[in-house]
Amino acid sequence: MTEVKATNVHWHDGEVSREDRNALLKQKGATLWFTGLSGSGKSTVAVALEKALMQQGHLCYRLDGDNIRMGINKNLGFSAEDRAENIRRIGEVSKLFVDTGVIVLSSFVSPYREDRDAVRALHDESDMAFIEVYVNVPLEVAEERDPKGLYKKARAGEIKNFTGIDDPYEAPESPELVLNSHELSLDEEVEVLLNMLKERGII
Ligand code: ADX
Repeated sequence: MTEVKATNVHWHDGEVSREDRNALLKQKGATLWFTGLSGSGKSTVAVALEKALMQQGHLCYRLDGDNIRMGINKNLGFSAEDRAENIRRIGEVSKLFVDTGVIVLSSFVSPYREDRDAVRALHDESDMAFIEVYVNVPLEVAEERDPKGLYKKARAGEIKNFTGIDDPYEAPESPELVLNSHELSLDEEVEVLLNMLKERGII
């Protein structure tokens, strides 16, 4: 649980609402939260979806584990505590984008159910859409792909607390969507996601 040290602070409303911004952008801000093992294809599908959404005239923004850990979260490692703080901060950042009217594509391993559920609760409290997408591949498939050579290092004991090897991954129990990325083509995945966004009135 995050210790709250900010006291005597007061929310200040502006004169432009979230609805105004959504109307301007002709879409509804939402967070698509991609969770899954390293190498499961979270970032790949987010990149492809971002391109497809842009081509249809929709503003979106990708938040990606590796990228975010090079900036705002460069002071966090991979202990359960640091991962929780990583996800908490990204949950808050995602909310700021959603409030702006942007469709956020957040791709984080986010291995702990509790951390993901906390982000969901943050969105629910503010009446914001949170769509959990479980990018599901068997560990063997992710390990075989090993795009960054990290599984090899983890197996050799050169990386500790590596998700799927010596650290847990808690699969979502009731995600809005499951993508079996080893069974679908990238185009099929994008189509499924676009249809879902339409059905939910986001685009
Ligand atoms: S999370 O668990 O806190 O959500 P995040 O998605 O930000 O993780 O970062 C995961 C990325 O960091 C992986 O894709 C991988 O490239 C890299 N990484 C480095 N060390 C680890 C580790 N111990 N466990 C998982 N990913 C790691």
